[in-house]
Amino acid sequence: METKLPKHIAIIMDGNGTWAKKRGLPRTLGHKKGSETLVSVAKECSNLGIKYLTVYAFSTENWSRPKDEVDYLMSLPHSMISRYEEDLMRDNIKLRFIGFRDRIDERTKKEIDRIEKKTENNTGLELLVAFNYGSRDEIIKATKEIASEVNDGKISVDDITKDYFSKKLFTANIPDVDLLIRTSNQIRISNFLLWQISYSELYFTNTLWPDFSKEDLDKAIEAYNNRDRRYGGIKK
Ligand code: IPE
Ligand code: IPE
Ligand code: MG
Repeated sequence: METKLPKHIAIIMDGNGTWAKKRGLPRTLGHKKGSETLVSVAKECSNLGIKYLTVYAFSTENWSRPKDEVDYLMSLPHSMISRYEEDLMRDNIKLRFIGFRDRIDERTKKEIDRIEKKTENNTGLELLVAFNYGSRDEIIKATKEIASEVNDGKISVDDITKDYFSKKLFTANIPDVDLLIRTSNQIRISNFLLWQISYSELYFTNTLWPDFSKEDLDKAIEAYNNRDRRYGGIKK
């Protein structure tokens, strides 16, 4: 049987801290290793021909972590972009950041804007990094925008459809997630893409994110292939 590729894979990259702790290392080194895993997984998705990959890199709740850890995580986009800019162009990857820009420092914001522009016309994998992202806040933001439009008479209440609402999310014009993967044996969603995963297939693995390999990705895609997506209908 031919493998069906999910068009959109989302990953909750969890277990960096646990990985470091097991080795007696600071948590930041777990994040460093985890960031390298992201590079190899993105390359692999690109090679396989996956169209969209959305990864959870920093949640709106992660601000509650110790300052040195937050600082390290906040510094990652800048250092990763400078390091992998050429790879992104060579691999034809379009990089975008989704989430709230308000608490992100100016230097990082500039770098994000720059790389988004630079890779905007790349036609391969679209890599969405959820950074200072929270799904409930995203939904509230969309709701407020729509409420103002109604208030200003730009649209009527009946114009508010699922499609219209989707277009107000950070993921506007990106198809819903087909396969959601979470590593590190945590069986929860943690405020990630609540709207966009309504009919996603969920895949949980014990593998810690820094250890996640090509084989782990293949296994997740294989599991996806054995699922019967019914969307409320009956078995085909
Ligand atoms: C995931 O790893 C990365 C982020 C949340 C930024 P964790 O740091 O949550 O790792 P654990 O869950 O403590 O092992
Ligand atoms: C979710 O992981 C956020 C990211 C992977 C960036 P967390 O480790 O923050 O989630 P909880 O706290 O275990 O739910
Ligand atoms: Mg965690």
